[in-house]
Amino acid sequence: MDNRPIGVFDSGLGGLTTVRRMHAIMPQENIIYFGDTGRVPYGTRSPETILHYTRQDVAFLRSFDIKAIVVACNTVSAVALETVAAEIDVPMFGVVWPACRKAAETTKTGRIGVIGTAATVRSGVYERLLRRTNPALQVFMQACPLFVPLVENGRVQPGDVVIETVAAEYLSGLKAQGVDTLILGCTHYPLLHDVIASYMGPSVQLIDSGAEVADFAKRMLIPAEGMGKTRYFVSDDPESFRGLAGLFLSGEIADKVGYVDIAKYTEK
Ligand code: DGL
Repeated sequence: MDNRPIGVFDSGLGGLTTVRRMHAIMPQENIIYFGDTGRVPYGTRSPETILHYTRQDVAFLRSFDIKAIVVACNTVSAVALETVAAEIDVPMFGVVWPACRKAAETTKTGRIGVIGTAATVRSGVYERLLRRTNPALQVFMQACPLFVPLVENGRVQPGDVVIETVAAEYLSGLKAQGVDTLILGCTHYPLLHDVIASYMGPSVQLIDSGAEVADFAKRMLIPAEGMGKTRYFVSDDPESFRGLAGLFLSGEIADKVGYVDIAKYTEK
């Protein structure tokens, strides 16, 4: 048994969709969650900035005696994970590889769509890893920059004309390409599951990258025992984080959320 906590981080709130899955499948684990709410979004930033922020986020989590780090953020997983994982001696699990494996197992036609932030799409990492599982796969990428702010403003319900118009705009190309599997390559997109599923139709399987990394971490780690506890930290306004967290966690955060001055953490 290993009762040390698992560190989980994201650019902000969205990584709570991964925490929700971790609570469901490994309730015995202790979790330290860091949301970089003071510097979100990462998805519009340069690779250099994302790498710099990632090193600081990891340095904060490593100030605890953690057994592993789950990178809930797709943008960080796509842009910075490989570099930072090679610099530290704690295992790091990102969302991209588990999602690619699941998508490759799921597709019947070999035509896979991936949606994510601009930085995730630009990184090319999904195409690279999907083709590593099977070089014959055809991969279609689409950045969906308006999805994150719309989710954070609660525009997630089917029937909401704003989200449905934006979804149609982003997804029409992927639908025309006839993808049969679509990776939700961003922390926020599981909240749009019903909107996306109804636009794409029943023949398209949606893959939730945050849930896949939680399942993957469970398989890879020595489990804890007892009843786990999750502590939450953010780099801006803990109260507003607590207020919005219910949207992502499907449950309130009972305890106090801690404030972290993330700029104080050095890169290594
Ligand atoms: N967490 C980011 C991701 O999964 C979305 C929000 C952002 O752009 O920082 O890519």
